[in-house]
Amino acid sequence: MCGIVGYIGHREAYPIIIEGLKRLEYRGYDSAGIALFDGTDLKVSKTKGKVLDLENRVASEISTNAKLGIGHTRWATHGVPNDINAHPHYSNSGNLVIIHNGIIENYDSLKKELIARGYTFKSDTDTEVLINLIEDVKLKENVKLGKAVQIALNQVIGAYSIAVFDKNKPDEIVIARLGSPLAVGIGEDEFFIASDASPFIEYTKNAVYLEDEEMAIIRINKGIKIRKIKDDTLVDLYVQELQMNLEQIEKGGYEHFMLKEIHEQPNAIRDTYRGRLLVKEGIIRMAGVDDNMEKFLNANRIVIVACGTSWHAGLVAEYIFEDLARIPVEVEYASEFRYRNPVITSNDVVIAISQSGETADTLAAIKLAKANGAFVFGVCNVVGSSIARETNAGAYTHAGPEIGVASTKAFTTQITVLTLIALKLAKAKGSISNSDYRYHLQELELIPEKVAKALQSDEHIKEVADIYKDARNCLYLGRGYNFPVALEGALKLKEISYIHAEGYPAAEMKHGPIALIDEQMPVIVVATKKGHYEKVVSNIQEIKSRKGKIIGIVTEGDVHVQELADHIIEVPETLEPLSPLLTTIPLQLLSYHIAVMLGKNVDQPRNLAKSVTVE
Ligand code: M6R
Repeated sequence: MCGIVGYIGHREAYPIIIEGLKRLEYRGYDSAGIALFDGTDLKVSKTKGKVLDLENRVASEISTNAKLGIGHTRWATHGVPNDINAHPHYSNSGNLVIIHNGIIENYDSLKKELIARGYTFKSDTDTEVLINLIEDVKLKENVKLGKAVQIALNQVIGAYSIAVFDKNKPDEIVIARLGSPLAVGIGEDEFFIASDASPFIEYTKNAVYLEDEEMAIIRINKGIKIRKIKDDTLVDLYVQELQMNLEQIEKGGYEHFMLKEIHEQPNAIRDTYRGRLLVKEGIIRMAGVDDNMEKFLNANRIVIVACGTSWHAGLVAEYIFEDLARIPVEVEYASEFRYRNPVITSNDVVIAISQSGETADTLAAIKLAKANGAFVFGVCNVVGSSIARETNAGAYTHAGPEIGVASTKAFTTQITVLTLIALKLAKAKGSISNSDYRYHLQELELIPEKVAKALQSDEHIKEVADIYKDARNCLYLGRGYNFPVALEGALKLKEISYIHAEGYPAAEMKHGPIALIDEQMPVIVVATKKGHYEKVVSNIQEIKSRKGKIIGIVTEGDVHVQELADHIIEVPETLEPLSPLLTTIPLQLLSYHIAVMLGKNVDQPRNLAKSVTVE
């Protein structure tokens, strides 16, 4: 996820773009850049860091006459965050300039073809490949910029929203969208382009939102023309009047970042497996694993180190690695591991999981593991973070920035990456049959739409939240793959509503926690069809006979638990190893609604920080 802004009109472009970028920083903030053209001089400034760093760096050197400009705040996907990889990027001739939000999956093959045709590249980005592809098409086919963009995009696989201009045509910007949002603000002889409407809300309330697979040519004095990228059909212009204020726009219309991030999960999971999960071919492509396959296959065991929610994702991974790939796994709190003199050798593979990539305990655990000769693999969200740099290899989750302190999309995307790795290893080891392997790939591809379906229970979950919001304690139970989900559900409730909650393996309840159960105690039980269903139903009966209040997270169409439980929340059916990706959704929503009803600061709960960089 990145933020893009563009302007063409009669005003000075620089202040509009720089202020717009500040408003889009929630979309990414590891580097920023701007390109301004005053009809003669093209000025491009880029820097690692925040928009403020860009502002400090360029304030003195930027042309204030430019009425055309584009700017970008980056959340790295290809290439670490640094000055060179920051956008805008320009073509080899220096004439075409681009900003891009998204991922070009086939950038590697396109790059090879362009290199063979004499093109050179300064950055590691997929974006620089795209702008040179556009230039190549433009020159080869002798077409205008808009046509060149269209032809080039038809060769591209991936997701994008882009804005491009040509120095030789300073009255025009070409934009396009597939999978990443793009809005155009329409003023009097001026146009604003942005990832959302926040950068232009004070200039115009009239906006056009591009749909997927659409592109637009925006020309001063001539207006905006939208076409389908595939077949060039002209699209009717639908101008909307914006009703939202600035804060609502930044949160995508949601009340809190946490809610926005919960609802982003279908797309976030899709972005995680994009370009990696090739269902038709029956392939999982992950360079970090492919390049180190021998290390994984020859390992005595895998040790997972992480903290908090990432540790819970590690527990889910323990089940899936052992179940499918038959590799022994141990999951350790990084804070314990680093101080307990663990037995680690060069025959171990250590997987470190971290959303931020900056958690001090996880970083220290990695250093200890490396010092003992282990091969360390990172699963991080933030590209170029300390953990991503410290590990020997890794795979990013590509969840986009997570702003809410409570992890939501980080958890499900971490599980997605770990599932891909487990399936890849299982295939390589032959511990999974071909048909089972294919079935898992197909089901994984369906998870985003099933998550979207699970999210539709939001209103019902809100009603349940209203009934239990005043509870003093809550118990979360699950078995097998859904035991870590119970832990994660309890953590979500604790951290944002400050209600005491415990997660337990359902069968452990009778060894102690059952003493807590009375008519005041809500017990949230994950009881999906495939995971030890009958056993969990027996556990539910034990709770019922002690008058506990039961909220069952069940598979769609379940009738058995419905008879016993006070409330049920349904999730779509899937394979058991993938079920945490669905069962966790209602638990996130339940804690969110309870916290909102209690008037808590959901996005910034007390005493917590998004990334814990101290011991
Ligand atoms: O950035 P990391 O994934 O390393 O962070 C680990 C924990 O601090 C984090 O998951 C924390 O537990 C969250 N607040 C949970 O919602």
